[in-house]
Parts: sequence; C-alpha cells; structure tokens
Amino acid sequence: MSLVLGIETSCDETGIALYCSERGLLSHTLYSQINLHQLYGGVVPELASRDHLRRIIPLISECLKKAIKTKHDIDVIAYTAGPGLNGALLVGAGVANGLALALGKPVIPIHHLEGHILSPLLCDPTLKPPFIALLVSGGNSQIIVVNDIGDYIILGDTLDDAAGEAFDKSARLLDLPYPGGKYLADLAVKGKDIYKLPRPMLHSKDLNFSFSGLKTAVVLLVNKIKSEQELTLEIKQNIAASIEAAIIDVLVAKATTALKQSNIKQLVVCGGVSANLTLRRNLDKLEGIKIFYPPLDLCTDNGAMIAIAGCMRLQSQQTDYGFSVKPRWLLLPQAV
Ligand code: KG4
Repeated sequence: MSLVLGIETSCDETGIALYCSERGLLSHTLYSQINLHQLYGGVVPELASRDHLRRIIPLISECLKKAIKTKHDIDVIAYTAGPGLNGALLVGAGVANGLALALGKPVIPIHHLEGHILSPLLCDPTLKPPFIALLVSGGNSQIIVVNDIGDYIILGDTLDDAAGEAFDKSARLLDLPYPGGKYLADLAVKGKDIYKLPRPMLHSKDLNFSFSGLKTAVVLLVNKIKSEQELTLEIKQNIAASIEAAIIDVLVAKATTALKQSNIKQLVVCGGVSANLTLRRNLDKLEGIKIFYPPLDLCTDNGAMIAIAGCMRLQSQQTDYGFSVKPRWLLLPQAV
C-alpha cells in the first residue's frame, strides 16, 4: 500500500491531495486564484507564483488533517512538472522536492495532461487502457490514444484556440466573468441554437481543432446585433446556446471519428470543459461506447489527478525521480 501526496501548481489553482493505492482518494484541498486574476481577464504569471507560495503549505497541512494523516505517513510525492507557468511550476517542484528530501521519500514529476487523462480513475477504477481521450481544457483540445500508462499517441491537436479558450473568449464578448465557460454554459441552458455559427473543421479529414474562426464569427454576430438592438438576456441566452452547440458539435464529431478509426470502445473525456453537461449529454448518446468522466468537481486543475497519476506511474514502475520543471513539456510522442 502506498500513500501518494499530489501537488498541482501549473497555473492558477493550488491543488493538494492524498491518494492511497488501496483506498483511493483520502482527501484533497484546493485554492483557486480566479478572483486574483479576474481583474486582468487572464492569468498574471507573477501573481500566480506568489499566491501558490502563500497557499501551498497551509493546504498541505489541511489535506493531511482531513485524511487524519501526518507527513510521515506519506510514501511518495507526485508534483506537476509541466507544462505550465515556469514560476508557478517551480513553487510546486520546490516544495515537493524539499519535503521529499526532509522525509527521505521519492518524488515523481508528472505531466499535467497525464493527470487530466487519468482523472476519471478517481471515480471509476474499472477504467483500463486502451481508450481514446478527448482532453478539452483552457489550453488544450486534444484527441489521444492511450495504449497504456505512459504510452500515448496524439491523433489530433488544437491549431489555435483550445475549446476552453473558445468558451472563455466568447463569454467575455457577452460580458460574463472570467473564466467564462461555466457562465456561458449556465446562460445557454435557457437559450436556443438559432444563430447557426460555423463548426470549424467539422468536415476536415483530420482530427485537429481550430476555434479562432468561431471567436471571429461571435464578434461579428454580437456587433451586428448591438448595432441593431439592445443585447437582451434572451438574445444573450440564444447566442450562448449557439456558441455552445457549435463547440460541442465539433468535439463530438471528432471524438466519434477517432473511436471509429481506432475501433476502440472506451472514451475518456477530461479537462475543464468535460464539466459541461450538454457535452456529456451529447456524448452519452454514442452507442456501444463506454464513457468515463472525472467527478464534476475534479474536471478543472486539482491535486487529486496528479496524485493518482503518481500512483499509476508508481504501480507501472515508470518513475523519473528528480527535480525538474518543463514549462513546454509535450505529451510525447509527437502529433502525427
Ligand atoms: O482544465 P482546466 O482547469 O484548464 C487547463 O488546465 O487549461 O479548465 C479550465 C477551462 C476554462 O476554459 C473554463 O472556462 C472551462 O474549463 N470550463 C467549462 C466549464 N467549466 C469549466 N467550459 C464549458 N462548460 C463548463 N461547464
């Protein structure tokens, strides 16, 4: 039995978790810096690093307390080594390695995207490779074949804006708070897809994504409506529903193609956008495919996904002990 401490500090969430190889997730603590960055409409790297420094130790203490454990019970420390913001990553790496040295325990550097990919295991341990992963977050839209832990092939990637970015930038045009994905989704609930926005690359032969054209279409639509009438709540709801439908149609179509082409019957949907309930409802209609999602509160960045990825690496004896951060770490092998 191993107790893994997971540490996530790649961007604007300080996430800590304790994962037990036999009993699963024992506790997790999270501090989101959203309020700190909201004023700027995006993450300010220096502010992010300083805030991680302020939060990380109290969050580790709270996490241990919640699980009724002490630091001496920890067997391994897993931390996000990349990709992410350099300064923010260094805070997590520094604390992980310092603590490991003091306790005489090993550390495992984890790829942030591997954490997302394995996050559905937190609620369904029956998930076993091979599976297709649709990874949709603020910075990534990727379709990946997961043959085994550490054996990944990227089939499709974002050429410009990621799915979460498309939600966030569109939400901003509707004067919604940052990050706007959840607010836009809430607004869309009472709206209708009446504007029929473009579905970028829906019929392209490959599995890549491109959402920057959609953003331009939203700008043009909003400006046109504003020049003719006031942007009422009803209009905003319909615009939100139209944006959401356009993004989801593309995600569902590409995931379906990947499943057909690979003849794999399991799909993992992960990353912040996997919290979108309309996306989940649409994917759930796929016949003959078993779909795995992370728990709703663990779709965005958190320490639990890093802890479980550390545990999986440990069990498959694929560990790479040592101090490192890789702000531009690719989930190798390269895209095909
Ligand atoms: O995984 P995550 O924390 O980011 C990265 O690691 O990059 O995901 C954050 C993204 C944001 O773009 C946010 O707007 C989006 O996930 N998001 C959503 C929803 N909840 C979060 N997008 C659509 N619908 C949601 N319910």
